[in-house]
Amino acid sequence: MSAPRRVLFVDHAGVLGGAELSLLDLAMAFGDRARVALLADGPFADRLRARGVRVTTTPMGALADVRKDTRLPSFGALAAMWRTAGALGATVDPSELLCANSQKAFVVSALAGWRAQRPVAWILRDILAAPHFSGANIRAVITLANWRACRVIANSQATADAFVAAGGRKSLVCVVHNGIDAAPFDVVTPADGQAVRRALHIPDDAFTVAMPGRFHAWKGQQVLLAALAQVPNVHAIIAGAPLFGEQAFADELRARAARLGVADRAHFTGFRDDIPALLSAANVVVHASTLPEPFGRVVVEGMLAHRPVVASNAGGVPELIVDGESGVLVPPADARALAAAIAALRDDAPRAARIAAAGARRARTLFTVGAMARGIEEALAAC
Ligand code: UDP
Ligand code: GLC
Repeated sequence: MSAPRRVLFVDHAGVLGGAELSLLDLAMAFGDRARVALLADGPFADRLRARGVRVTTTPMGALADVRKDTRLPSFGALAAMWRTAGALGATVDPSELLCANSQKAFVVSALAGWRAQRPVAWILRDILAAPHFSGANIRAVITLANWRACRVIANSQATADAFVAAGGRKSLVCVVHNGIDAAPFDVVTPADGQAVRRALHIPDDAFTVAMPGRFHAWKGQQVLLAALAQVPNVHAIIAGAPLFGEQAFADELRARAARLGVADRAHFTGFRDDIPALLSAANVVVHASTLPEPFGRVVVEGMLAHRPVVASNAGGVPELIVDGESGVLVPPADARALAAAIAALRDDAPRAARIAAAGARRARTLFTVGAMARGIEEALAAC
């Protein structure tokens, strides 16, 4: 077994998305051997520092304007990419391996690693397929990965398969599922859940579902609203924020809730830092992504919270849940099926409890931070 590596994790985001929350746990598990370079300042940098992780920020300038569906980056963006890669490369220690945690971070890291002559791994957390990404975007990163990556670590088999289907070299890729710390879920008490319900003015006896997630059309908050219209009296806690500039979508969601006549049962909470307590306020946890979800931390979090999870049957989600045993899978973007699954759990409490218990066991067995950190460590040993 080769010696443990010192790792410079690189992420482009300053906000707290799922990729960043997973990296937070990973960097903490690596302890002194990890350093994090961010291409934007923000709450993620603050959170890392608060947990004792060494973090530096190298702002990416006009590269921030390049989005997943961008076909042709501007000259300014390309210049910013080159500049950022140079600045990042200059900070790399000869003993460090670069490990990118997002697509943009991989592009910058690949160039930085090339200039600093250091190996570069990529934790791939996206399904590289349309309509998530433009064809040009996919071709560019696959070419770069095949040329520069020493390892591509996919967060699910579905993510790995999409990488290979898009032309990624099969021998580069391995799968390491995310792990999520169960401890914050284990200390939650029924009183915490009750306090959340009271603060949101949800009646004590109202059957309630919770859906945490960043606001974006493909995350499917609109599908939950449509389902809510079909299950009278059920309340929904919809937690999250438009992290990557989707404010118009967030505004439209509230208007849609009013149009559907469910505004009094749809509780928009904004971004929350108390997800374990929030989930414990609900009877069921919902995941409603309309496109294949690469992994879906919220699915595992619902399982850790001892709640039956209803989730979209696509992408990595079927690797997390065994349908009918440790959760319930429904077709994506199908409000009727989602409503039926929620109603069925409401109407059969013993089945809901069985599924919740099996989900809680499965999450604690398969999706631990320890297993994730070991998996990543082994994968990096190939670099
Ligand atoms: N989350 C949060 N507060 C919120 C909404 C979401 O902390 O108000 C967290 C959620 O608990 C999960 C993450 O954001 O850990 C979302 O990760 P996921 O993998 O489900 O989706 P992503 O947004 O990364 O695509
Ligand atoms: C990405 C994916 C999400 C995954 C997270 C952590 O944000 O969209 O499905 O759970 O990364 O790997």
